[in-house]
Amino acid sequence: TSARKYLIAGNWKMNLNSAEGAELAKDVVSLVGAQTDVTVCVCPTFTALESVSQVVNNSNIQLGAQNMHFEASGAYTGEISAEMLRHLFTNFVILGHSERREYFGETDAIVNKKTLAALAANLKPIVCVGETLEEREAGKVNEVIKTQLEGALVGVEADAADALVIAYEPVWAIGTGKTATPEMAEEVHAEIRCMLAGLIGEEAADKVRILYGGSMKPENADDLLAQKNIDGGLIGGAALKANSFAALVESA
Ligand code: G3P
Repeated sequence: TSARKYLIAGNWKMNLNSAEGAELAKDVVSLVGAQTDVTVCVCPTFTALESVSQVVNNSNIQLGAQNMHFEASGAYTGEISAEMLRHLFTNFVILGHSERREYFGETDAIVNKKTLAALAANLKPIVCVGETLEEREAGKVNEVIKTQLEGALVGVEADAADALVIAYEPVWAIGTGKTATPEMAEEVHAEIRCMLAGLIGEEAADKVRILYGGSMKPENADDLLAQKNIDGGLIGGAALKANSFAALVESA
């Protein structure tokens, strides 16, 4: 099939202080820090980035942030720039998570600016898209995803394909215990790849990793990861325990 390497990314959300984060990172390193078949990434809070960075440095575990600002520096109280993340050896940054869209008013235009700024700073953006239950029931899944995807990727070119990651996170599956069935997820993932082909060309679209997110856990991961267009997972709850996170890496 294709050369896409699986990516398992843990989104710790607003959990774990810098000491607790370092502890979890140590356990992750000891369980899966040596394997090279799968890209593994942990995304702590900003305050835990430095301590976790020190722990994962010299292992195969990559570091991710959960958000960033699109400007390089200046009068943006409370914000963090891509360069600041790079300084701590951050590799990935989650952008446009549905929680940021819902609680912090992030729009597709903002996600677009952040995506371009991340790429320019050599950070790999994990751009999140996904529909609500209402939108799914109204038959609007493709429409919603298309708007979010096209909105986020304005100005993104084919040469960004290796760095670019898309996460499909159906909002109704996040933290609810409800997972999309492998078939439901694959349908949307295939659609996303098709949309990507329209934006950056088929060859580039084939390189982009598309992750599934939403109540993914060791019990349901095998079937999801077996789908042709599912290239890994963005894991919330199950990433907060080293054992279950490591089991997901094993699944991939
Ligand atoms: O970004 C990960 C995510 O939103 C899924 O969370 O807890 O359902 O795995 P969870």
